[in-house]
Amino acid sequence: MNIMILGSGGREHSLAWAIKQNPKCDRLIVAPGNAGIAMLAECADINILDGDAVATFAEENAVGFVVIGPEAPLAAGVADRLRAAGLLVFGPGQAAAQLEASKSFTKAICDAANAPTAAYAHFTDADSARAYIRAQGAPIVVKADGLAAGKGVIVAMTEEEALAAIDDMFDGSFGDAGAEVVIEEFMEGEEASFFVLCDGKTLLPVGTAQDHKRAYDGDTGPNTGGMGAYSPAPVMSDAIIQKALDEIIRPTVDEMAKRGTPFQGVLFCGLMIQNGQPRLVEYNVRFGDPECQVLMMRLGGQVLDLLQACAETRLDQVSVNWAADHALSIVMAAKGYPGSYDKGTVINGLDNQPEDSFHMIFHAGTSENAGQITATGGRVLNITARGHDLTEAHEKAYAMAQGIDWPEGFYRSDIGWRAL
Ligand code: AMP
Ligand code: GLY
Repeated sequence: MNIMILGSGGREHSLAWAIKQNPKCDRLIVAPGNAGIAMLAECADINILDGDAVATFAEENAVGFVVIGPEAPLAAGVADRLRAAGLLVFGPGQAAAQLEASKSFTKAICDAANAPTAAYAHFTDADSARAYIRAQGAPIVVKADGLAAGKGVIVAMTEEEALAAIDDMFDGSFGDAGAEVVIEEFMEGEEASFFVLCDGKTLLPVGTAQDHKRAYDGDTGPNTGGMGAYSPAPVMSDAIIQKALDEIIRPTVDEMAKRGTPFQGVLFCGLMIQNGQPRLVEYNVRFGDPECQVLMMRLGGQVLDLLQACAETRLDQVSVNWAADHALSIVMAAKGYPGSYDKGTVINGLDNQPEDSFHMIFHAGTSENAGQITATGGRVLNITARGHDLTEAHEKAYAMAQGIDWPEGFYRSDIGWRAL
């Protein structure tokens, strides 16, 4: 089968790496891809937000299965466009992608499904939002309603911060995403991510992980897209997994089906756990980045069978073959990220690194120029390793990181601290 993956980050590199290991994979094409992906797949330079362009390319290249990595094409309806062309697709259509693309939509679904989450209110004008914040007091959480590349959430520890966030959002600094806001109760507890494949009916958990959102050691500094991850997350005990499935995910998926917009794809459940009770922080409708990298390292080639069964609505016929293993991924980012940073700096030392089912460096923002790998983005490399326990995965990943010669890059030295 010819397979096409849409996206260009470390998430898509890890999906390509795992899918390529499955003997069912013939040609593997990634659009647009990056320098690391180009070492194991063909890269196609097409605009992945343009459903017509993707459909035409897929038809011309006899693609049998399309896997959509990021949220933007899902929210833009690219999965619907490809399905209309008769293609097999992994990822939700536009209506179901609202679970990530609209925070107020998700809150309304949680209400209807009776799923535990933070209490909230939804506003379309600044004055009522300010009055609500003054009445509730801090800490409180202000969220732009729409997609804001992970930057639309302000966890305000003071009332002043929350009011300033309202000013920013209604002043247009978040574009259309901020024209509506959701204001939420601040939840305390430990965060974890839970990934569940869903074909509209059947649920299949494919792993838990913990991300590290802040830029610097000790969970300090600005919020980022994620500076490292590990899987499994010890806080996700069997009992909490079961509660999350029974109380949050199953009712959500049933409610989506009832509305005529069944969810097909991977549901990325951001959970807050306190006193043995999970509550929903947010849904994403795609794998996390860098969480995907640790999940793919643990799942390997079987992931193709799982994603295909999901797209073909036969998840009830497959199961996950788990090894008792752990994986950890360190993000190397350009100095200055998530603020401004230099582009085009040269990365050395990649050639000497081990590359096997226990060690892999996934590329995010890289490109190749005259045989040299250069950094083109904020998050650039995901140094990922697997071990029999987290300590072993941690040691292997940090040993690899030390072998990389990129003076303009940085990484956190404490990935996995909470579990180690
Ligand atoms: P989100 O984009 O909704 O995941 O929010 C980004 C981050 O903000 C989450 O990962 C949490 O760390 C934090 N957050 C979001 N909502 C809440 C909440 N209601 N209470 C506490 N922290 C929150
Ligand atoms: N690492 C968080 C995300 O992918 O949204």
